[in-house]
Amino acid sequence: MDDASTLLDRIIAAPDLASLEAVRVSALGKSGEITALLKSLGGMTSDQRAVEGPRIHALRERVTDALAARKDELEGAQLEARLATERLDLSLPAGDVPQGSVHPVSQVMDELAEIFADLGFAVAEGPEIEDDWHNFTALNIPETHPARAMHDTFYLAGEHDRPMVLRTHTSPVQIRTMMSQKPPIRIIAPGRVYRSDSDATHTPMFHQIEGLVIDKGITMGHLKWTLETFLKAFFERDDIVLRLRPSYFPFTEPSAEVDVGWSMEKGRRVIGGSDGWMEVLGSGMVHPRVIAACGLDPDEWQGFAFGTGVDRLAMLKYGMDDLRAFFDGDLRWLRHYGFSALDVPTLSGGVGA
Ligand code: DAH
Repeated sequence: MDDASTLLDRIIAAPDLASLEAVRVSALGKSGEITALLKSLGGMTSDQRAVEGPRIHALRERVTDALAARKDELEGAQLEARLATERLDLSLPAGDVPQGSVHPVSQVMDELAEIFADLGFAVAEGPEIEDDWHNFTALNIPETHPARAMHDTFYLAGEHDRPMVLRTHTSPVQIRTMMSQKPPIRIIAPGRVYRSDSDATHTPMFHQIEGLVIDKGITMGHLKWTLETFLKAFFERDDIVLRLRPSYFPFTEPSAEVDVGWSMEKGRRVIGGSDGWMEVLGSGMVHPRVIAACGLDPDEWQGFAFGTGVDRLAMLKYGMDDLRAFFDGDLRWLRHYGFSALDVPTLSGGVGA
């Protein structure tokens, strides 16, 4: 069987997958040799077909098997070659290279995501260049509202459909989430925010985290429990005492500022206990107008929201006192306050790392 042995030889000799494919086409393709043999069966007498039929089908089977076997071999060799080039000797000593560290802001954001994920919150994001509708109007801060001036907004020059700003808070992510997701909603939104302000406790860019829950029958009790659970996990103490003080935010009604108790330990103020109070969060029940602005029926859906500064949380937990140092990029500061990349916050291992 000459045709069989040359075909099989060519299959075995194919040096790579492309040549193997060429052999396959020349045998089994539309105008391949074996295809032609199969077609020739039609013109035979039944006696001839009884002899040639099984022979040709057997030939096709041998060729098909040989093709598959060679393909396996070539693919295996290709993988081996790739693995050989990607080989990494993990036992080699690390060079004397400068070591990076995880910035406290990133670390705290990871801690917050870990704590809130455990409570069933997803992480949501929004743009840092925002339009003034999302940043203000939809949050019940109309154009003439004094809160617009309070925010020291950076406006963007140029032609836009709507006035564009650098977002002054993470609250517009509430709006974007309510407009793009169906309730029930449970999200946190950490991110950068911008205000034209600069001194020891203010930088033009800083970080906030927003929280939002929208569901049926949500009350301030849910808000307080959530914040208490979060702050206990974050500061890793059970003696966290909260005080909700009536306040005003345009996007919540009622609104409350949340103070947390502190005490003196070794001459330092630490969170926990109740020697004094420190304000840590803004919060409240989402204003019905905000819910309606997002196209939801406020008679059906209620919720709570809160917002706070991530940098401030980091300062309170890890004891830094100058906010500006966060953004100086001073290697000595980063070495001192930075975290190892292996300090991944987990609830079981301790979010404090
Ligand atoms: N967006 C507020 C700010 O930047 C913080 C805030 C207060 C957020 C109360 C909230 C909230 O969601 O309910 O000052």
